[in-house]
Amino acid sequence: MDVQTPPSTSSRQFAPPQTVLVRPLLLKPQYMNGLSERLLVSHYVNNYGGALRRLNAIRARLAGVDWTRAPVFEINGLKREELIAAGSVILHEIYFDSLGGHGNDPPTGLAEPPAELARALTRDFGSVAAWRAEFTAMAKALAGGSGWAILAWSERLGRLVNQWAADHAHALAGATPILALDMYEHAYHLDFGAKAAAYVDQAMANLNWERIGARYRLATGEAAEEDELFLPYGAPPQEEARISAEELKAVLERDGERRPFLLDICLPKDLPRRTDMLAGAVMHAPAALPQWVEKLPRDRPVAVYCICGFQISGTAVKELRQRGYDARALVGGITAWHAIGGATVPMDTSTYEGVQ
Ligand SMILES: [Fe+2]
Repeated sequence: MDVQTPPSTSSRQFAPPQTVLVRPLLLKPQYMNGLSERLLVSHYVNNYGGALRRLNAIRARLAGVDWTRAPVFEINGLKREELIAAGSVILHEIYFDSLGGHGNDPPTGLAEPPAELARALTRDFGSVAAWRAEFTAMAKALAGGSGWAILAWSERLGRLVNQWAADHAHALAGATPILALDMYEHAYHLDFGAKAAAYVDQAMANLNWERIGARYRLATGEAAEEDELFLPYGAPPQEEARISAEELKAVLERDGERRPFLLDICLPKDLPRRTDMLAGAVMHAPAALPQWVEKLPRDRPVAVYCICGFQISGTAVKELRQRGYDARALVGGITAWHAIGGATVPMDTSTYEGVQ
């Protein structure tokens, strides 16, 4: 699988061809090691989502440019902004994919690169520790400014390189990033203030080496089947049981009476993490499924979402499909919905079991 492609590719027909689709968070923002949910979700929704929305707006504008008549300042401006926004989108996706634990287990800080990547780091830097010393020093040197610390595979140089980047558009030609560490202040200020070095050390303790190793295999052409590593934990494995944020937005705007019924599933302990919901959604507790399942319509699809699209909506969709409902899980949950700029309304818990 092309890891730049979101898990649900069926949405492509619902969005204009130039649209870049949102990628879900693979890390569990509430189960990280010293990086707060507030920081990570704000970063994902506002900075990654902002770059994605900007990129799609620029690409929509570019689709309408008359190349024979457009003034050069307009061409230069749009193409420059497209490059910057695309670089930001791609590097943020690699950054978020590079972080996280396994399932509900937070990163321990003790994980090491998988054997083949460790061998490559040792070959190219002397040892994993020597690579780490260079990479973290390079990241910390960006403190007080902005940019990215990138580990990339260069086919031409025949090695892994630690690449310094002063902005989203700074890249080693032809190289493929496999790990990117965001050194813009928005990546750490909420948790660490101006202490960029402390953030670098904490981010290194949150690396998901399994996915970084998979990116290395993809970059060097040695990849086998990596799809599951890039699916949110607990999301339905079958594509027909998932719906992307872009597709849901399109069918809600288009399908009238046949529009999906929106089911908001939330654990009682997660209610305090929530403030809003999709307009028209009905909120239920997963444990009370026997009480509410028969109220769901059978003549319309049911779009099920939770906070980030992990096992809460994934398990509900599995149970609903076993009962014959056309249920699909929103990839990335309401968090991905926020990232594409989807509208919401204040949370309504009047239908939620156990809440008055
Ligand atoms: Fe960022």
